[in-house]
Amino acid sequence: MQHFLKETDFTLSQAAEVFTLAHALKQGRGRHTPPTLKGQTWAMIFSKSSTRTRVSFDVGIHELGGHPIFLNKNDIQLGRGESIYDTANVLSRFVHGLIVRTYEQSEIEQLAELGSVPVINALTDYLHPCQIFTDAFTMAERWADGTNFLESLKGKKLAYFGDTANNIANSWILGAAMFGMELVLAGPEGYEPGEDIQKTLADSGFAPTWSFTKDPEEAAKDADVLYTDTWVSMGQEEESVDRIRVMKPYSVTSDLMKRGKSDALFMHDLPAYKDMEAQADVLYGPQSVIFDEAENRLHTQKAIMSILAEAKRR
Ligand code: CP
Ligand code: NVA
Repeated sequence: MQHFLKETDFTLSQAAEVFTLAHALKQGRGRHTPPTLKGQTWAMIFSKSSTRTRVSFDVGIHELGGHPIFLNKNDIQLGRGESIYDTANVLSRFVHGLIVRTYEQSEIEQLAELGSVPVINALTDYLHPCQIFTDAFTMAERWADGTNFLESLKGKKLAYFGDTANNIANSWILGAAMFGMELVLAGPEGYEPGEDIQKTLADSGFAPTWSFTKDPEEAAKDADVLYTDTWVSMGQEEESVDRIRVMKPYSVTSDLMKRGKSDALFMHDLPAYKDMEAQADVLYGPQSVIFDEAENRLHTQKAIMSILAEAKRR
């Protein structure tokens, strides 16, 4: 049974297939969508808030001919203390796939071990692989000629600013290594990437392509992409004051954008907190592709679900 719990759960050739299929699904949307989930029901179990992930999966399952069921933690027995393991075990008797947003990566790993239906990581504290595949596709859409999506990423420099120890930074450490991109993470002392993500990367067999600096200008120099994420992730609300104080020097400003290549992209997975991790003129400026990233969640996840459903049929 194949799952998508982290970027490197897919092979490079499957990643290339995701990009090609996402592109085709995007082009054909509203005219022709292969009904790869026809007759299937997929459940979405969410223990945290979501706008993009929730809606894009719901719409995507529907468009592929399947039926989505959205289950908020507080609406089901999970909210009253039933374990995620029992919940998923029961649900997998009913449904064809599980999409899970939760805290611990180990929770979704346990679910996957049940092995009866594919599990997709819709964000944990550790990783957000659907976002990183989508963002890579959003870059490749611009850099490729419509066919060489994966190749177009190779050698590109991605500069990431702010919380360099969160799920998005971790996922980029895996994604950049996988896609052959240079990743420079710029953040305050005390927020360097942890040993756990370095071990996950080592276990994947991909060579590290990341480095860490406290100097945002050094990171931005000649970058192809300047990327940021919220300084306070879901579940870290009590640390807000400290985090905002130490991460302030890493806010993406128009001056920082000028250090990158003249055609550099500005990216943010959203939700964004204006004038915090990025200034409003950058978020909504000419180099920003934030809403394309959001839209592409739909196309990329449709491709990921189609590939997992097909792998299960084999
Ligand atoms: N980027 C992202 O995952 O957004 P949501 O939290 O709104 O799903
Ligand atoms: N790092 C953020 C990503 C939100 C999509 C969080 O976990 O809240």
